[in-house]
Amino acid sequence: MSTHLASPEETLAWGASLAQGLREGDVIALCGQLGAGKTHVVKGLLDGLGSNEEVTSPTFSLVHEYQRARLPVFHFDFYRMEREADLLSIGWDEYLDQPGIVVVEWADLFPALLPDHAQWYRLEALPEGGRRVTRIQP
Ligand SMILES: Nc1ncnc2c1ncn2[C@@H]1O[C@H](COP(=O)(O)OP(=O)(O)OP(=O)(O)O)[C@@H](O)[C@H]1O
Ligand SMILES: [Mg+2]
Repeated sequence: MSTHLASPEETLAWGASLAQGLREGDVIALCGQLGAGKTHVVKGLLDGLGSNEEVTSPTFSLVHEYQRARLPVFHFDFYRMEREADLLSIGWDEYLDQPGIVVVEWADLFPALLPDHAQWYRLEALPEGGRRVTRIQP
């Protein structure tokens, strides 16, 4: 099932609505091309969890932690990661065991790292400028 997102604000709102159903231990895997709106979904998700923390993509550090939300959020981005070992060495398995939410941009670059219970979503830019988000199977 797909949802049409006509503007950046609608992407934020979709992320916030996704947040409403989240429980500790949930893992969100986001895919989609450069600029598809993945970070906007994470911004909306933090907002929906009651955090006003600034969200930026953890491009060089691999993970950003947000502790002021209803649940802690661990925000990963696999775009610049070269090998699985880089993630394992910063404690990926422990992040998955935390009582919080793990959200991963570019999850499809290393799909085998994601646990079976991860919820996968693909974002696509549409020709007229909006976006489409679809729940997918990995
Ligand atoms: N529904 C939408 N309609 C139009 N523009 C949108 C929509 N959602 C997000 N955008 C715009 O897309 C651009 C990229 O958004 P964002 O940074 O979230 O993408 P991204 O998928 O995280 O990119 P990257 O792959 O570089 O991490 C932003 O300028 C944002 O305003
Ligand atoms: Mg991004």
